[in-house]
Amino acid sequence: MAIIHDDAGRRRFLSQAVMGFGLLFGLGTLGLRFVQFLVPSQKPRQSEAVLIGAESRIQPGEALSMDFGGHKILVLQTDQGVAAFSRRCTDLGCLVSWNRERQQFLCPCHRGVYDKNGTNIAGPPPRPLDRFEVIRRGEQLYVNIQST
Ligand code: FES
Repeated sequence: MAIIHDDAGRRRFLSQAVMGFGLLFGLGTLGLRFVQFLVPSQKPRQSEAVLIGAESRIQPGEALSMDFGGHKILVLQTDQGVAAFSRRCTDLGCLVSWNRERQQFLCPCHRGVYDKNGTNIAGPPPRPLDRFEVIRRGEQLYVNIQST
């Protein structure tokens, strides 16, 4: 351990000690964040059934727009029955909208087109729209939302 003989030496020592502590603290925080980045949280996904309403709410050829806790969804009748699609385009994530005349989902960003079953049919989208499970309980329909 160094013996400090004067005020200037003591100040320099304290200054370096504080800077060293700050540097260690900064590197420790950075290292912790890096480890968190490499090992993502293992929280189980929870699903939640959210009420859409009676099937009669969904008119043929129309899409019902809903927003459940950040999930923007379009619900409509498809060839396989009622389906709920994410409005997030599978290209770069812009919000698609339903075009009643064309019976297609259209993305305004790069002219992506999906058919009424959510299948990508034109433009850059690489895959179909994400779908949410639709559950029937009696007369009511629910959409199964996954959250973390
Ligand atoms: S973001 Fe939808 S087509 Fe590019």
